[in-house]
Amino acid sequence: MLKLSKLATAVALVVAGSAALAGEVEVLHYWTSGGEAKSVAELKKIMEGKGHVWKDFAVAGGGGDNAATVLKSRVVSGNPPAAAQIKGPAIQEWASEGVLANLDATAKAEKWDSLLPKVVADVMKYKGNYVAAPVNVHRVNWMWANAAVLKKAGVTGMPKTWDEFFVAAEKVKKSGLIAVAHGGQNWQDFTTFESVVLGVGGAKFYNDALVKLDPKALTSATMTKSLETFRKVKGYTDAAAPGRDWNLATAMVMQEKAAFQFMGDWAKGEFIAAGKAPGKDFLCAAAPGTSTSFTFNVDSFAMYKLKDAAAQKAQGDLAAAIMGNEFQEVFNLNKGSIPVRLNMSMAKFDDCAKLSSKDFVDTAKTGGLVPSVAHGMAIKPAAEGAIKDAVSQFWNDDKITVAQGVANIAKAAATK
Ligand code: BGC
Repeated sequence: MLKLSKLATAVALVVAGSAALAGEVEVLHYWTSGGEAKSVAELKKIMEGKGHVWKDFAVAGGGGDNAATVLKSRVVSGNPPAAAQIKGPAIQEWASEGVLANLDATAKAEKWDSLLPKVVADVMKYKGNYVAAPVNVHRVNWMWANAAVLKKAGVTGMPKTWDEFFVAAEKVKKSGLIAVAHGGQNWQDFTTFESVVLGVGGAKFYNDALVKLDPKALTSATMTKSLETFRKVKGYTDAAAPGRDWNLATAMVMQEKAAFQFMGDWAKGEFIAAGKAPGKDFLCAAAPGTSTSFTFNVDSFAMYKLKDAAAQKAQGDLAAAIMGNEFQEVFNLNKGSIPVRLNMSMAKFDDCAKLSSKDFVDTAKTGGLVPSVAHGMAIKPAAEGAIKDAVSQFWNDDKITVAQGVANIAKAAATK
């Protein structure tokens, strides 16, 4: 009898123990469009499969500006989520506040150092310790197009230079359709702007001007040329662009209302989610003049310090799942990006992703691999916000001359 009751107590303890390991994981993200929502649902599925409770904390708003504001107020009030989708230098800023958890135990067990490109691992670490887990590599310098619209307008093949692009855009305009689908937030303007700068000036100029914020590069003739080209692109957008979300601009391309969109490959996630076929319904190519460069944008989850042991366990499991083979494949197939984990099979991926994967590796060797400013990978948030505003003011107000635009951007870049 005694033995039996001891056994029952032991069983009860084991059961209680395993229940205690199932924790709640609250995840702050901004993946709310069709393709994005499908992607994040895969992470939820994996976490629930491990017995954890997924608490979705989605803050709508492409590019994540709204999410960043909400995150700040939660952390300041001492109630951070387990994980938040932040990236680049913002990870370092949060880590320096002392609020991020140390993920080294998971990273060591899962061998992250050997599974990640060094350029990515460095961003995930603060003072040598992992504080964030990367999910993917998005390429930003893409140009998307609707194949039927190009055909109707008599455009054969994707334009490779800005000159070719404007010839094509003119043909589309004459056919009565919109040449460039564009939306209305400053990060969308900057997504186009950084592709123009890269195409006009090349990777070295891009780095000098937009990453190092070198005043000489920022006020050079190449920057003038970039702004002239950028304004010319604006001439091919429609009057209803201000305020439009990026995925609605992608929908215009899908629905044969517009020919091109300059957007990172989360746009491909939208096409795929809508059942469109790459190479057939829609086309992908590097933005004009940028085929030997790659602006990278790595989505990642920073993990916040938590007190509850079960929540900490769930957080560790989330970090491990994010870097796992299964998640890296299924998530990126939906998201439009490529796995960040090295040496993964690309067999199930489409040609756009295969090109991205090849170019990521090639440009890392040639110096063409550059961080996206528009997507928070390159400079401190304060300067990034200031130059984004200067670029958008120029884009939105044709009365600002190119010379004034150049001066405003250079001045904004000096923001500390
Ligand atoms: C993020 C993507 C996201 C896109 C639109 C980018 O900054 O890296 O994951 O899909 O914004 O919201």
